Amino acid sequence: MHNRYYLIGYMGVGKSTWAKKWAKASQLPVHDLDKLLELRLQMSISEYISAFGELAFRKEEREEIRRSGNLEGIIAVGGGSPCFYDNMDVMNAQGETIYLHAGVGFLSKRLQDSTLAGNERPLLKGLEVAMYPEFVGKHLLERMPYYDQAAHRISVEKEDVLAALHSLMPPYTK
Ligand code: S3P
Repeated sequence: MHNRYYLIGYMGVGKSTWAKKWAKASQLPVHDLDKLLELRLQMSISEYISAFGELAFRKEEREEIRRSGNLEGIIAVGGGSPCFYDNMDVMNAQGETIYLHAGVGFLSKRLQDSTLAGNERPLLKGLEVAMYPEFVGKHLLERMPYYDQAAHRISVEKEDVLAALHSLMPPYTK
């Protein structure tokens, strides 16, 4: 059992939120790979993708995943990271991967609310919110084979997420 937990899953599922809640409850350190990457790049991911394109971003993201082998605790990972290069293999080798799962309806609603509240996600830029269910449905299907490589899966719609996360920890860290 590792002392490094990767929370993966689609945009809007709540990876960062659950990472923080779990960290508070378990007293483990918490990290957000997107934020660490933004610190290293000295700009937001949105700005980076606008300036250099998505492929350049994916290369930097891959590097950040490798670097995360030096971190301890809970790590929230950007929604697309598991789906590029051998990132899923690297995360599975470096820690316990946990897929936070939700259906298209839940995710679309969360993303629509987030966009309407002013949060900008680079991958949704220019897309009307009414089109989100269609976009998410197709995109999630493409990403599923990668997310399904996670060691653990938790349904955020059906399970007590915090209890499920806790059950993954060895007794000595509880
Ligand atoms: C992305 C998700 C984002 C961020 C980037 C790309 C994706 O993270 O890494 O905009 O490809 O799904 P969140 O899942 O935290 O929104």
